[in-house]
Amino acid sequence: MSAISVRVPAKVNLQLAVGPLRDDGYHDLVNVFHAVSLFDEVTAAEPLDGDPSAAPLGVRVEGDLTGEVPVSDDNLAVRAARALADRAGRSYRADLLIRKSIPVAGGMAGGSADAAAALVACNELWGLGLPVEDLMEIAADIGSDVPFALLGGTAVGTGRGERLAPLETAGVFHWVFALADGGLSTPRVYGECDRLREEAGVAAPTPAVSEALLAALREGDAKSLGQALSNDLQPAALALRPSLAGTLALGREHGALGAIVSGSGPTCAFLAESAERAHELAALIKDVDGCRAVVTAHGPVPGATVAG
Ligand code: C5P
Repeated sequence: MSAISVRVPAKVNLQLAVGPLRDDGYHDLVNVFHAVSLFDEVTAAEPLDGDPSAAPLGVRVEGDLTGEVPVSDDNLAVRAARALADRAGRSYRADLLIRKSIPVAGGMAGGSADAAAALVACNELWGLGLPVEDLMEIAADIGSDVPFALLGGTAVGTGRGERLAPLETAGVFHWVFALADGGLSTPRVYGECDRLREEAGVAAPTPAVSEALLAALREGDAKSLGQALSNDLQPAALALRPSLAGTLALGREHGALGAIVSGSGPTCAFLAESAERAHELAALIKDVDGCRAVVTAHGPVPGATVAG
């Protein structure tokens, strides 16, 4: 094979319970991940043997508003491919092409998704045949959200979010995502969460999974799921990007079953009763201040998968 393409989904956090800051700079979490049908595609190709001095791992990025994505060794997909080559104990070459639809720095784990896709694509391109358990381990070293992008579906993550247990769900959930102008830095949002807690004199609680959320997922009950959505990073994201409050309020006014900041933001997620209601809601909120585009999607969907 001279090129392998992998499609990988975005995530929304149905519950993000943030515990205390740990000594390693991360927070203990209970993180209910849900993969939705908004996809990036990563293609790993054997380099054409033109320039022998070229870097062993090249990367290009295509898509809307991709200016923020590094095309250097800092790119998460490049880091993932390099970590995979290191694990295999050889130096391998590949040209990576990332076609982005997941918003950049949007709280939907787009960079992590690309890393997961690069692992699957290069594992195949290089004929390594590593089992998914090994890819999961490499993924966790790259970033807290990378293992989930391999797994997909709906899952609860503990630790810093990388220890995953798949969750039982019924039916399909319909979503609207309001993509914001510009991104938010994840470390900055976590830092603001700590700062707000300190300012209010509130100790970080021990994170625990919401039983109401688990029941809603098992029963495929969108109305109960909407009520059970929660995100401890939301006050911090709203403090850093006050316009998001208006976006969330507008979605609720127009009948969203739930309205929440996705992860560290600034994307806002709205749960709708049906695909039709999701399209209606998208049209009603698309012109709100600070919103650059709206998209509809459904979940759960599988994790990183080799395309056709
Ligand atoms: O793991 P990842 O590199 O994606 O995390 C990005 C940043 O998000 C971390 O550097 C840290 O500031 C914050 N983070 C955290 N606690 C977690 C996960 C991420 O504080 N459990």
